[in-house]
Parts: sequence; structure tokens; C-alpha cells
Amino acid sequence: MNAKALFTWIGAILGLLVTQALAQTKPAILTIHIDTPVSKVSPILYGLMTEEINYSYDGGLYGEMVRNRTFRANKSNVPYWILFEEGDAEAKMQVDRQTGPSEALNYSLRLDVTKADPQNQAGILNQGFWGMALMPNSTYKGSLYAKADSDALGELSIKLVSDAENKILASTRVRSPTANWTRYEFSLKTTAMQPLSANHLVITVGHTGTLWLNLVSLFPPTYHDRPNGNRIDLMEKLAAMHPAFLRFPGGNYLEGDHIPDRFEWKKTIGPLVDRPTHPSPWRYQSSDGMGLLEFLEWCEDLNMQPVLTYVEVGNEDYFDRSGSYDGRYEQFYKAIKAKYQDLQIIATTPVKSIRPDVIDDHYYRRATEFFHDTTHYDKTDRNGPKIFVGEWATREGTPTPNLGAALGDAAWMTGMERNSDIIVMSCYAPLLVNVNPGGMQWESDLIGYDASRSYGSPSYYAQVIFAQHVGDVTLGSNIENGGSKLFYSVTKDTKAKRIYLKLVNAASHAQAVDLKFTGGTLAKTGTLVMLNGRSTQATNTVEQPTNIVPVQSPLPNIGSELHYTAPAYSIQVIQLSQQ
Ligand code: AHR
Repeated sequence: MNAKALFTWIGAILGLLVTQALAQTKPAILTIHIDTPVSKVSPILYGLMTEEINYSYDGGLYGEMVRNRTFRANKSNVPYWILFEEGDAEAKMQVDRQTGPSEALNYSLRLDVTKADPQNQAGILNQGFWGMALMPNSTYKGSLYAKADSDALGELSIKLVSDAENKILASTRVRSPTANWTRYEFSLKTTAMQPLSANHLVITVGHTGTLWLNLVSLFPPTYHDRPNGNRIDLMEKLAAMHPAFLRFPGGNYLEGDHIPDRFEWKKTIGPLVDRPTHPSPWRYQSSDGMGLLEFLEWCEDLNMQPVLTYVEVGNEDYFDRSGSYDGRYEQFYKAIKAKYQDLQIIATTPVKSIRPDVIDDHYYRRATEFFHDTTHYDKTDRNGPKIFVGEWATREGTPTPNLGAALGDAAWMTGMERNSDIIVMSCYAPLLVNVNPGGMQWESDLIGYDASRSYGSPSYYAQVIFAQHVGDVTLGSNIENGGSKLFYSVTKDTKAKRIYLKLVNAASHAQAVDLKFTGGTLAKTGTLVMLNGRSTQATNTVEQPTNIVPVQSPLPNIGSELHYTAPAYSIQVIQLSQQ
């Protein structure tokens, strides 16, 4: 290379570097017209989508601690139940299809005890959902259906025992079962102990005879103390999301892969003993303890609307190649509207036969796909059907999404907020995942847990901070020098005169943003809620639940302008008050 060419080459490289440096430091200028509402924000924009997947209910939100409480057998055994023989006790267990406590549960587990005494008991052991989480000084409420061949069988002994030490952590007795199926209640109280989930349940007798059992149930203290209720830690995490509605149950769980897999709500109501349970499309049996009533109680507890003023017909019916959905939707539409004019009928794919009230759109994407599509609904026909973004997620990170995914989510949410005159509702999916081996059927789920611990992913916290600062109108604004990885939405709570600016900097470098406010005066100090990290791969886990969490701080020096710098890989909400 000659000297001239070398200089030209060096010059070009320097020019490129200078341009890049300028691009990184050149502030974006974001002007916000604080008294100019542009469009309405739906009051029910953020909600929850739920289905039985990833052990979301059984082994998740639903508090039941006994796994396979109805003794469903496979070809070789009764999963999660083990024969227990103490000392030289001897017994045999098998499923008995001749007798059960109800029409729905018309079979049972039969235990034939051929050798036992009070010191050498025989019975069965349940392993729980990857253990049974126990806390000190707590009461666990249980029940079971039982009958015996004779009174001589004696009392049932029920114990919670630690796996490693075989230590009895709580114990009680249930009176001798009779010859008729009867429901027995019991409670098990722990004393001082280390919180631990490697525990199991043992039910034994100290005499020979035959015992039949079904629907063996045990609950920890539940949210709002509801019987048959939900796990407290998970409900608290959901409450922090300020969800406005619950889509229940949605996803493939609603229709199932085959007719027997579908969610038949009529079989999920009434006493648990009248619920037959059903196979779900996610390859495990649903206990249906989380039935229609429990969904409504969940709504009541978190002050959510059940998607009831709205009714959805089906799920992702664009996969139906038969083309039958169009006509079926029309039939449902007309039949429902004939009786309930106010109900809004959601279609899962565009239909031609009739104009749907609402279309349910689903998006499972990488972060960059969301970055490139935040304007997706900007040009949607405002006279057409409303939109329900009924499932969406950035799928990066497993079992739960990482910070890169949260950035994709947050960018997408800015677009949804800007368009929430037409997007009436949106909900992330899937919501929950049991992180134990075999617990997950779908990668990238918002909240992870095991038997005793739970955590929110960075995507969860992005949802939390967006849903905590919704507002009721979007404000007029414009941005210059924004860059391709800077996203924002600005809304206002008109009654409280609060302005919420969400800024997402998905770039690997900090981004200066000069904020200019017109049309009113702001209080001198605002609030900043910041969620950020050093790498897109940074994440939270059940062992390290708080690596990426929002941090709140006061934001001083606000006038008609504010020189702000959004850190690399950051999602922030700036809250301002109009005076
Ligand atoms: O959210 C997981 C699955 O994704 C849902 O069950 C289904 O609707 C979609 O394909």
C-alpha cells in the first residue's frame, strides 16, 4: 500500500470512529407536550394470561402439596406414591377399580397390610411436587377419603418427614376409617425448624387389614386464607403486576390437542371429589383443583376482571387447516350476542363471515424482531376490530427470560402503549414455570419457582414497572436523533396530573436524551425507576433472584428541560408531576 492510500485508509477509519463516537454521544431530543393528550390508553391494557403449562397450577400457583392426589396409575406404578414398610411390616398397594368415593373418582388406592404393629407401621408415601416446602411454626391443612375392611385397622398416622434425616417435622392421627367412604380432615403443625422443601408425606396404619384411599390433599397457608387456595409468594408477585384482567384458561390448554384434553369447565366445579381431572396438552394430568370458581376467586383476590365482558372463541385457530373456524366463530358470535349484547366476542384469527369485535394476536419473538416492529399497530385501521395481544413474549433465556429479552419486551410495550386506543388488552405468556428438572414444557416464562422459592425474571420486572405507571392518555411528543435502539412512550394520569415517560435504551452504550417539556410546569423533583444490567445475558434465577431488579430514586433538577442519560441496556420509567 502506498503512502497516499494508507492515509486515505486511516482517514476513512478515523472518520468512521468519529461518526460512531458522535452517534453515541449525540443527545436525542425528546419534546413532550404535557397538556396535549393524543389518544386514550385502555384502562385494562395489562393483564395476566394463564394456562396449565410448566406446572403452573399443579406444582405451582395452586397450593396443593400432594402430587397425584387421586392415585392415577400408569402401566407400571402409581406415580409419586411409594409403598412404605417400617421395620418388618409388610403390605401391598394397587389401584382398585371396584370402589371409589364418587362417580368422578370411582376407583381408589387399595392397601393390603399383612403384617404391622404400632412400632412397625405400613402405608404409603407421597413425594410432593419436587418435595414439600415446610416453614417453621406453620399449619398444613389436609383431608382424605378413606374406608377400611374393619374397625380393627385402627387410626391412620399422618406425618411430614424430612427426606435426608427421616426427621418427623409434624404428625397427627385420623380416626379409624369405617366401611363407608368418608372424608376425614386433619392438620399438621410444624414447630421450630429450618425452612426446607426436601420433605415427604407418610400415611400409615399399625394393624393388619385393608385400607382404601383417594383424594389425599394437603395445603399450606394460602393467599387470603382461602381453602383450596393459592401459594402466597406467587400471588404476591402477580399482585405486584397490577393486572387488570385474567385470560383464563387460555392457550393450548383451552382446546387441547385432542377432544379429551379440552378444558371442560363443568367438570371443574363443585367439591374436589366430583372433579374427574383431565389430561392436558402439555403432557401431564390436570387435577382441576384450579377450576372455574378458583379462577374467579383469583380475580377477586387480585381485583382483576375475568375476560367475561369479553369471550374468546378458541385459541390460535389459524392452525386449523380445515377452514371451519370462520363459520363456527359466526355461529358462536350470533348465539352469544342474541342473549348478551354487551359481551365482546374475540376471534383468534381474522374471519370473513362477520366482523369480530376483537382479534387476538400472538407474538413469540427475539428481541431484535420486536425492536424492528414497535410501530406494528401505528397504522392499523381504527374502524376495524379492536386488538387483544393475548400472548406475547421475547423468547431469549431459559427457563426464564434474561435482560436482553426484557429490553425486547419493553420496546414492544412502548408500541402497545402508544396504540392502546386500539389495543384493549395485552398479556405476556407463559406466566409461570416450575424450574425443577422436567417442570418446563415451554422456554422463557415470566416467573420461576420451585417448591419453596420463587423469583421474577427481568421481563417480569419490566412488566411490573410498566403496569404500575399506565396513565389514561398518551401525550403528544416527538423525538430527534433517537437512534434505532431507543424506544419510548409517554402517558399521563390526567386525574393525578402525573406524567409517565418510559425510556428503553437497548443499545450497548449510554444514550443522552435531552427532554423538553411544553404546555405546563412540572414539579422540580420527579421519580426514576431503573431496571438495567451490564449484559443482555444477565438474568435472575431461583438461586440468585435479585440480580436485575428495579431501583427507585428521586430525579432532581426538573425544569422545562432535563438532560438525562439512559444507561446501556436500561429500561426506565420517569414519573413527573404537573403543577
Ligand atoms: O404460551 C404457550 C403456547 O403458545 C400457548 O399454549 C399457545 O396458545 C401458544 O402457541
